[in-house]
Amino acid sequence: MLPKVISVFGLFSSFVVAGDATLVRDVNTTISDSAVLECSIQDRAITDWKSLRFYWQDDRNVVLYSYNNGRKVAEHVNELYQHRVTDFPQDIVRGNITIVLKNLTLDDNGRTYSSFAAVLDDSGTTRYHLEHTQICEMTLHVAVPYQEPRLDVNTEAMSAVCSLQGGFPAPDIQWVLLHNSSHQAVESRNVNTETKQNVHDHLYSSRSILHIPAGRHEAVSCLSHNPTLNRTVKVTHNFNTAGAAARSSPAALTVYLIAAAVVLLTAVQ
Ligand SMILES: *[C@@H]1O[C@H](CO)[C@@H](O)[C@H](O)[C@H]1NC(C)=O
Ligand SMILES: *[C@@H]1O[C@H](CO)[C@@H](O)[C@H](O)[C@H]1NC(C)=O
Ligand SMILES: *[C@@H]1O[C@H](CO)[C@@H](O)[C@H](O)[C@H]1NC(C)=O
Ligand SMILES: *[C@@H]1O[C@H](CO)[C@@H](O)[C@H](O)[C@H]1NC(C)=O
Ligand SMILES: *[C@@H]1O[C@H](CO)[C@@H](O)[C@H](O)[C@H]1NC(C)=O
Repeated sequence: MLPKVISVFGLFSSFVVAGDATLVRDVNTTISDSAVLECSIQDRAITDWKSLRFYWQDDRNVVLYSYNNGRKVAEHVNELYQHRVTDFPQDIVRGNITIVLKNLTLDDNGRTYSSFAAVLDDSGTTRYHLEHTQICEMTLHVAVPYQEPRLDVNTEAMSAVCSLQGGFPAPDIQWVLLHNSSHQAVESRNVNTETKQNVHDHLYSSRSILHIPAGRHEAVSCLSHNPTLNRTVKVTHNFNTAGAAARSSPAALTVYLIAAAVVLLTAVQ
């Protein structure tokens, strides 16, 4: 029992020592893509990196990268991460312990990755500059982009249906009406959105129904936002508006009148 208590305490104290350096960062990326786990040891007292040893682990304490005595220690890497990590030996010797995790899947989503390092001081004793101190911590968010939404508008029933399939995480869907050339948010009581997650591939599908309120709308748009990619895809239906044309004619008339006035004024001068 005692060793366990000590190791928990050790971990805790390393958090305190590392201070601001252990700020948890978000790393957002796309499925099948790579994630750069960027991390550098910032310690001016260290001038000699020969004794550097470090490792990266996930929130299950599964090791994805280990380095000691100037080389990668492949035996320490869990098979879950074998052949998925790229290192940068030329940067490691300067205290930059960045790695790249490749071939991301949704199993990697939401995991937190931490690096711990130790560097002996150069006096040849066994004193450390860093003693298995936590250096960096980051949370990985993996997204699957949605295709452009499909929008079906029924002008008789005054309803619009926006469908999205096969993305991750769940989308935020918003409706916008274009009315008198200005965008108008839609009241939530006119919207009914249903989102489902497929138990096998974990991907979401969403179907949002808008009851189009009365009014002379020029267009309706469905916007789908992927919070991890911070990207919005939009699809718009333009109503066949005689109203819009009628409204534009006074503007055209004004332009004509101004032009006529200019011609008149020029003629007078
Ligand atoms: C650390 O190394 C990585 C990989 O070469 C590089 O992208 C990054 O800019 C380096 N960071 C610093 C602070 O030098
Ligand atoms: C990573 O993905 C590439 C391209 O899809 C594939 O060829 C390779 O076998 C994958 N590697 C691993 C370790 O899964
Ligand atoms: C349309 O907008 C213009 C300028 O903002 C305003 O003067 C006009 O009254 C509006 N028309 C309608 C029908 O809301
Ligand atoms: C990264 O993804 C998370 C989870 O979806 C999100 O909360 C965060 O805002 C995203 N960060 C950026 C910079 O887009
Ligand atoms: C998402 O992107 C918008 C602009 O495209 C930006 O203003 C906003 O800060 C971003 N959100 C996050 C969480 O990064």
